[in-house]
Amino acid sequence: MSHDHVAIYPGSFDPITNGHVDLVKRTLRVFDKIVVAIATNPGKDGSLFTVPERLQMVREVFKNLRGRVQADCFDGLLVDYAERKRATVIIRGLRAISDFEYEFQMAMMNHRLKPKLETFFMMTGESEFYISSRLVKEVVSLGGDVSGLVPGNVLKQLKQKLPQQGQKL
Ligand code: PNS
Repeated sequence: MSHDHVAIYPGSFDPITNGHVDLVKRTLRVFDKIVVAIATNPGKDGSLFTVPERLQMVREVFKNLRGRVQADCFDGLLVDYAERKRATVIIRGLRAISDFEYEFQMAMMNHRLKPKLETFFMMTGESEFYISSRLVKEVVSLGGDVSGLVPGNVLKQLKQKLPQQGQKL
């Protein structure tokens, strides 16, 4: 149905979690190619990882799916980036009802800006619905164990990065 269509999966990915990974893998059942697109200006200051670090982690996670999953970054409006990539679909994950209002607003705004671009929502997997990059960083910074919630390379990077930051987020 949607073969040859590129799906864009935008986000901060600071860092990528197993929730994101699960979503990408399930999306690949429907779409041939996905671009994991890291926003460089999502309106959030204080990212833990730089954009090159986040890109590198995403590339490492999907190194066995290189033909189908591409990691990229963009600034400016998501809809303009999607147009440059000739994408027709934006993928977003929904974890819980609390995500809905924010996601609904973004989807509506993006639709108003580019009506031909559709947003598809995927429910996050049942084992991942409580995982967020923010919580993962908080738990690691306070000495908690997040193994199993993020890919192995990300866990290593988190442990290296957080002590350097004086355990602060
Ligand atoms: O992972 P996040 O932080 O929830 O992702 C939010 C993101 C990056 C998808 C959103 O902030 C975004 O699309 N930023 C790009 C700028 C833009 O287009 N803003 C208008 C959105 S309606």
